Amino acid sequence: MNDAKEEIRARLAVEDVVGQYIELKKAGRNLKGRSPWGVDKTPSFMVSPEKGIWHDFSANKGGDIFTFVMEVEGISFREALEKLAAQAGVTLEKYTGGDKKVAARKARMRECLELACKYYQVCLARNRKVCEYVFYKRGLNKATVKEFRIGYAPNTKTALKDFLKKKGFSEKEMNDAGLLNQYGGDLFRGRMMVPFMEAATGAIIGFTGRVVGEGEPKYLNTPETLLFNKGRFVFGLARAKEAVRKNNFVVIVEGNMDVISSHQAGVKEAVATSGTAMTEMHLKALSRLTSDIRLAYDGDAAGRKAAERAIMLAGGLGIDLSVIAGYGEAKDPDELIQQDPKLWQEAVENYVPAVEWLLKQYEETLDLTMAPGKREYSDVAMRVIGFLQDAVERKHYEQLVAKKLDVTVEDLRKKKVTERPRHLKKPKTVVKSEILKGLEDDLAAIVTFGGVAGKGIKIDLPEDETRLDELEMIFETKYAKMDTVTLAEEVKGLWERYKKEDVKRQIKKLQEELKATEDDEERQEKILREIMALRRE
Ligand code: UTP
Ligand code: MN
Repeated sequence: MNDAKEEIRARLAVEDVVGQYIELKKAGRNLKGRSPWGVDKTPSFMVSPEKGIWHDFSANKGGDIFTFVMEVEGISFREALEKLAAQAGVTLEKYTGGDKKVAARKARMRECLELACKYYQVCLARNRKVCEYVFYKRGLNKATVKEFRIGYAPNTKTALKDFLKKKGFSEKEMNDAGLLNQYGGDLFRGRMMVPFMEAATGAIIGFTGRVVGEGEPKYLNTPETLLFNKGRFVFGLARAKEAVRKNNFVVIVEGNMDVISSHQAGVKEAVATSGTAMTEMHLKALSRLTSDIRLAYDGDAAGRKAAERAIMLAGGLGIDLSVIAGYGEAKDPDELIQQDPKLWQEAVENYVPAVEWLLKQYEETLDLTMAPGKREYSDVAMRVIGFLQDAVERKHYEQLVAKKLDVTVEDLRKKKVTERPRHLKKPKTVVKSEILKGLEDDLAAIVTFGGVAGKGIKIDLPEDETRLDELEMIFETKYAKMDTVTLAEEVKGLWERYKKEDVKRQIKKLQEELKATEDDEERQEKILREIMALRRE
């Protein structure tokens, strides 16, 4: 993996990678451009071709080509690595040994899903009744249907399966791709099909299918596969990222169809989470692209609860959200757009800070003249105010709340002691890298659920149930379908990488310690020796 990283770094010039996104001009030994994140008036984005790095002085971030692509595209390291590897003409499989089979399987899945998408597209064109639904009932135009690659899955048992079989795909491959049901027939039948496009590449990694008209379930989604992970996937990002980068905001809506309508209405900054609640991974991916994240959930009780949850989740990560204030009688953005696209264009500019929105929600539903109402209101208020980074802003809201409840700010603060936002107590110790955590998860999953495959792997095993569930899910999605030989190879590869990463972590920890022991020379020497020993491993 690291060899691959170095190879890619050697082949790609930082100014070429960055230059795909920003116009760069020569400035002495460096190059200068405008920040892709800020709205800076003077160029504050620097690239050093010599050092192979970049730094953005307005957004206060910097790094190498990998971090740049991660930040600018809002994608994970792995995705950035894959993207840059393709540009550099480096084959990753060569470097990852154990992953080779997985990579090959993923490639076949992608081909299979791409073909399925084309098939669905043709089926839509051929079916007048469904065309009527898509174009008239849903109000989508030809350009939108083409851009989002909307199709139709015919209402037969094995039409897609038969088609893919003729194209050389095995049942196992179709199953890998998540296209079959438990009986080996087509999973999607009689549904309007919307593909899930990967943000980094636009490649298809799954589908959501909506019943045409009424029926249950309304939406059917691809199950978790090697490619599709619903906790991570942001629907519409592949189409939205350019606008998000350019206009520096993103709108999160509840439904996939809201995203599509929004794009058609000219608000191309809309995305959604697909068939699942917002996760930290969703929020992190979006916050890498912009700091202006606006929620536009449905106006019903469920939508409000979901918004509240998202606000708390984001607050814990130190991410500020705002909420689109409401859209009259319409239930969701799609409905509003059906009334008039202009109304939605205006709505996205009519947003308030999450704190304000949340306080208003509670003011409207609680009786603030009674003690229980006061307690609940102040609980929520102090929790969400506590997330704010800025002391002046915090004080502003504390005073508002105190006034509302007819108490002093000191009274309010007294009750706050129990809850502190997570970002204020960042541990000083070295946190585990995401890579290490991922490897550890995979290994623990195999040791726990993989039978003999995990024998001989020494790793801490969890005892609490949620963690076990998580591991089981990891095992089910990634490893359950592997035969014993493949799984054994996989374990070997994972274990090698894990040991390497763990050594790195130990070195990092010792280096931190070294910094902390300023004038104890004996101790310093001891630590240095330990580091050297680890490096030799
Ligand atoms: P909604 O029921 O609000 O969908 O679910 P919608 O976007 O308004 O759909 P239309 O306009 O009736 O077609 C919001 C989201 O919840 C998930 C989907 O991701 C959907 O976009 N969902 C909903 C499911 O996964 N399954 C379901 O059965 C229903
Ligand atoms: Mn809707």
